[in-house]
Amino acid sequence: MSVYLDNGATSFPKAPGVGEAMLDYVNNIGANVNRSTYEASSEAEMVLIECRERLCTLFGTEDITHAVFTPGMTAGLNMLLKGFLSPGDHVIVSSLEHNAMMRPIRQLEAQGVEFSRIPADSRGITDPKDILPLIRPNTRLVAIMHASNVCGTLLPVKEISDICRERGLPVILDAAQTAGHYPVNMKELGLSALCVPGHKGLLGPQGIGALMLDEEFAKRVEPLISGGTGSASDSELLPPYMPDRFESGTPNMAGIYGLKYSLGFVEGRGIEALRAHELALTKRFIDGLDGIANVRLCGTRQLDRRVGVISLDFIGQDNAEVAFRLETEFGILTRCGLHCAPNAHKTLSTFPQGTVRFSLGFANTEEDVDRALEAVRRLAEG
Ligand code: ALA
Repeated sequence: MSVYLDNGATSFPKAPGVGEAMLDYVNNIGANVNRSTYEASSEAEMVLIECRERLCTLFGTEDITHAVFTPGMTAGLNMLLKGFLSPGDHVIVSSLEHNAMMRPIRQLEAQGVEFSRIPADSRGITDPKDILPLIRPNTRLVAIMHASNVCGTLLPVKEISDICRERGLPVILDAAQTAGHYPVNMKELGLSALCVPGHKGLLGPQGIGALMLDEEFAKRVEPLISGGTGSASDSELLPPYMPDRFESGTPNMAGIYGLKYSLGFVEGRGIEALRAHELALTKRFIDGLDGIANVRLCGTRQLDRRVGVISLDFIGQDNAEVAFRLETEFGILTRCGLHCAPNAHKTLSTFPQGTVRFSLGFANTEEDVDRALEAVRRLAEG
């Protein structure tokens, strides 16, 4: 039996029952929403509404019309960045961003958008005050991740957003590695928008995610995609109201059925309990590394400043080969390389060799961690 430790890429297993919920929609419901009036369509519409309600409950926001479905994290960030920034604007990011953030920003850079990175130390720790010298008269947005997908270090989002609020700067958050793993409350964090993927800690399927927007901010974002919404069909213009403004085209209903189901599971377990479980496993893993030679933990050891994404650099070895041997000799499934986050690796001094990343999930056990540690010991010490 292999040990799945690649939950940072996508969670596995999914919440029990997700597959059945999706199959039920595909086999027994099948109807589109917002477009037809028969019973199956109304039933699908109810599931869509309940899914929005669950998102709002989990992420500390109230207005379900401002919980927008997206195809995933990358689409959500593209919608926000490309819908909000214009040539001449300046955006501030962290030093740890994933390419879901950086590639749209680099595309925008070619059109005259400037960006700066808040520095971080070699453990990925960011001092929120370091944003201050970066703020310029044309700074229009702060766009950051909640936790690094490379080393698991948490960013001081609340402290950064406090600084930004005083200056009227909106903050948008990529919660790819925290949604479902760690508390994410839009109001408490003072966010203008929040993007989450359905398929990671929320334990749903791929191809569905959500973007939650504050009412005022939503009005300032130009929709990236336009098309049929099933509403205001007398007009060729996008309706001005939410969520239709941001939801053109037929939604991924099978994905929404799966996500609604998985959100129910996450809510039932409770974020605090999921966090406590993953934190205990993270501690066991990090403590277990003590005394293993020739391997370096990247990121912080401080448990309250990290999530269960653990990156290791095997000194003097090719990390890609180590990951291959972890799978073929020990059945341990990880992700190696640069994790779509080149600047994070530069910050952690693991560029270009990359790391071997072990990322924990709700279904992992102490035995999984012990098996991984034993494999690490055998490979690191030769
Ligand atoms: N962003 C995901 C990861 O870090 C896919 O693996």
